Amino acid sequence: MTLQKIMISSMLFISPVVMADQMTAMGSGCLGCHQMEIKTVGPAIKDIAKKHKSTDIEQLVAIVKKGKSGDELSWGTIPMPPNNVPEENIRKVISWMLTH
Ligand code: HEC
Repeated sequence: MTLQKIMISSMLFISPVVMADQMTAMGSGCLGCHQMEIKTVGPAIKDIAKKHKSTDIEQLVAIVKKGKSGDELSWGTIPMPPNNVPEENIRKVISWMLTH
């Protein structure tokens, strides 16, 4: 197989999954506060990925579900409200975030 063929077939194979996860992130409201490169209301997805490379994903799911406020904040002073979306979606979005 030529390199180009490998690239095309791997794009076909990977991108629908990545896009589905991005759609989940959008549908779950996460992207309203989390942008890829820059800090907006919440930390940038790239910074989250860097910080949580080796954090247990279940721990992050619990945090995101419950939200963070007051003494729990570790990025600044803006709280993250509880995210009332299915846990499965939260897990999907976080694993997508951590690939960046
Ligand atoms: C209303 C804005 C808002 C929304 C919506 C939001 N977040 Fe956040 N998120 C924040 C803020 C602000 C922080 C930083 C909190 C802190 O200082 O610890 C944060 C932090 C995080 C962190 C890092 C937690 C840590 O302890 O380091 C993750 C992971 C995360 N958000 C994922 C998500 C996911 C997934 C969703 C969608 C289900 C989501 N967020 C929706 C504002 C938001």
